[in-house]
Amino acid sequence: MIQQKIIAPSILSADFSNLQQQIRSVELGGADWIHCDIMDGQFVPNITFGPLVIKALRRITKLPLDVHLMIKTPENFIERFIECGANYISIHQEEVVNLNATINLIKKLGANAGIAINPETKIETIENLLPSIDLILIMSVNPGFGGQSFIQHSIQKIKELNEIKTKFNFNFLIEVDGGICKKNISEISVAGCNVFVAGNAIFNSDNISASTIELKNLVSNY
Ligand code: DX5
Ligand code: ZN
Repeated sequence: MIQQKIIAPSILSADFSNLQQQIRSVELGGADWIHCDIMDGQFVPNITFGPLVIKALRRITKLPLDVHLMIKTPENFIERFIECGANYISIHQEEVVNLNATINLIKKLGANAGIAINPETKIETIENLLPSIDLILIMSVNPGFGGQSFIQHSIQKIKELNEIKTKFNFNFLIEVDGGICKKNISEISVAGCNVFVAGNAIFNSDNISASTIELKNLVSNY
């Protein structure tokens, strides 16, 4: 099965004093989703933004909002994020006690459900969820900050997950998050990635639209 390649700029590196214009720039560059990193200073050592910003984004773009929850007890906030306009919600395997119930809650409330795993978390820990999940988010940096370097052993993990997906004909998307840039995106694509999150490579570049197009062109051939 050929799945679309999706570019998801992460607004973690965007200029928040001009968010609307920054979103327009990635839209012009053909961005497919907007990736939103929610951090609480507890699960990760950084704080970002919450549902109010998702609500504001919902008013300025029609693109799917891909919400990555790096917070303690994410199950308590899912309803609020979906009310505000989240289309995809990813929760961390390392934090959620009852993954199945939380995934069911996300789906029941009308969003797509994802599971995120940190660089040191193995695929085996989520194997039983693969038949029913919409998306697996492989962290290729330790979560918390933008602009870090891609952890190379993530490639092996993407390949391993993609092999399982092909073997059993599963439908989930494979998303990779952290350190993606024009130098490594093709290799990540060939390994089996469908959704490419990029913050620093897009928003800290000289031309946001051009960088988005460039990343998209580098994956579209695979
Ligand atoms: C890190 C976040 C990422 C981050 C990626 O915790 O989950 O989404 O924004 O940013 P870059 O592309 O700068 O590594
Ligand atoms: Zn993220």
